[in-house]
Amino acid sequence: MSEQQQAFRKALGNYPTGVTVVTTFNEDHNPLGLTVNSFASVSLDPLLILWSIDKKSKSYNEFIKTKKFAVNILASDQQDLCNLFASKNEDRFSQCDWRESIQGLPVLEDTLSILECETAEQVNAGDHTVLIGRVINIENAEKEPLLYHRRNIGAIPEAFYK
Ligand SMILES: Cc1cc2nc3c(=O)[nH]c(=O)nc-3n(C[C@H](O)[C@H](O)[C@H](O)COP(=O)(O)O)c2cc1C
Repeated sequence: MSEQQQAFRKALGNYPTGVTVVTTFNEDHNPLGLTVNSFASVSLDPLLILWSIDKKSKSYNEFIKTKKFAVNILASDQQDLCNLFASKNEDRFSQCDWRESIQGLPVLEDTLSILECETAEQVNAGDHTVLIGRVINIENAEKEPLLYHRRNIGAIPEAFYK
């Protein structure tokens, strides 16, 4: 890795994020999902969000083909899901609680929020593709978020809240 790439990694590692699992069904109606922290808000009118997928991801072609996906924002007690959906395990959905939503997407149970989206745009960006989604359904729960910072995963300490 070049010096510039190392500095880039360090700078991005200095930026804490939440943790999501992005899910969809493939053409055979099998659920797919991966852990994602590149998620960001884009637009309020219309409602747009984005995330980026590594071109090396096993589910890359299926996420490029799908017309909709769900962003499941993980709660502080869902660290196991973060690890499961970032692991080599290919049978992820047999090891977690999930359901098919009214919109026809696989969504995880007991998350903090769910944003169900139609794929609005795909932007080729180096070794990733940015997926922009138009939000078609939103669910929110009264829970705390899961945080990710420098490979650590955890809850926001109580002292953070004034
Ligand atoms: C906290 C965290 C955030 C991640 N964010 C992304 C991301 O934004 N985009 C991505 O393509 N992979 C991301 N990954 C890596 C994928 O979750 C991981 O490579 C996963 O195994 C890919 O699954 P697949 O190859 O079955 O599609 C992240 C992993 C972790 C632990």
